Amino acid sequence: MKQQTIMKLLAGMVGLGIALGAATAHASPSKDRQDLIKYYKGKYPNIKVDDYVYGALAFDADSKAQYDAIMEFPPFDSQIEAGRKMWETPFKNGKTYASCMPNGGKHIAGNYPMFDEAKDKVVTLIDALNDCRVANGEEAYKPNDMKTMGPLTAYMRTLSDGMMMNVKVNGPKAMAAYADGKKTFFTRKGQLNFACASCHVQNAGTRLRSELISPAVGHTVHWPVFRGGDNLVALQNRYTGCFSQVRAVPPPVGGTVMNNLEYFHSSLSNGLPMKASVFRK
Ligand code: HEC
Repeated sequence: MKQQTIMKLLAGMVGLGIALGAATAHASPSKDRQDLIKYYKGKYPNIKVDDYVYGALAFDADSKAQYDAIMEFPPFDSQIEAGRKMWETPFKNGKTYASCMPNGGKHIAGNYPMFDEAKDKVVTLIDALNDCRVANGEEAYKPNDMKTMGPLTAYMRTLSDGMMMNVKVNGPKAMAAYADGKKTFFTRKGQLNFACASCHVQNAGTRLRSELISPAVGHTVHWPVFRGGDNLVALQNRYTGCFSQVRAVPPPVGGTVMNNLEYFHSSLSNGLPMKASVFRK
């Protein structure tokens, strides 16, 4: 599609909907989540909140049926299996990931990202895995390396399937990190002057080119995803893609801006069940 046409499409989307960001600048995380749910419910009363975990598929029964069929025999099983081997292979010192993650790494993914008071920053699950590697004398993986961290998290997150997302924001420093992530989500940026919210709030359920846009609530529970069946994509890599879509320079994966964005964004899915990993277009 020509650039001009895309610009026109995007420009047409501006001004629809509400300025939710400004209205809720100082609201609590649970109020933010409830406000968004109320907004989506008002627009799409027939879609169940539980179905938001399917992203754009919640708005399209045919694509959802296709997804269900693919998920019966996932084409990415071998990559999950590779991740399981990585997870189970001991470090050179004989210790394992399970020995240095809380609860042996089971039913914990929904607690991340978390605010670590001692480190004075947000720690994602990927950071926690890297901390575990470094504590055991191994080198950290690049957070966006889909040959190493990708399959490792794809497997590790399956150990938390069914756990509810449970991101906590306690204390003024955690709240500041949350507010920073929220600001990134609601601030317009890029040549096209779009915020995450312009698409995933105001225009959730509408089409951009051929693609239905997903709601932000439910976004973070199914990661990483396998796009096209075998192309492993981590959550922050997806953020990078969406930043680029509006011709904004994406902040570095694993940096403070991205981690705070993931913190805010994940808390919007509190109370929804985790499931790794899934197929996406
Ligand atoms: C110009 C519109 C637009 C903007 C702005 C935008 N996105 Fe997206 N985003 C899309 C489209 C289109 C898709 C693919 C269809 C879908 O799943 O929503 C997508 C997909 C996603 C997905 C994957 C959903 C899934 O279930 O697979 C996430 C997560 C996401 N975007 C987050 C963000 C964040 C965070 C920002 C802000 C940095 C952002 N997006 C900005 C249009 C946009």
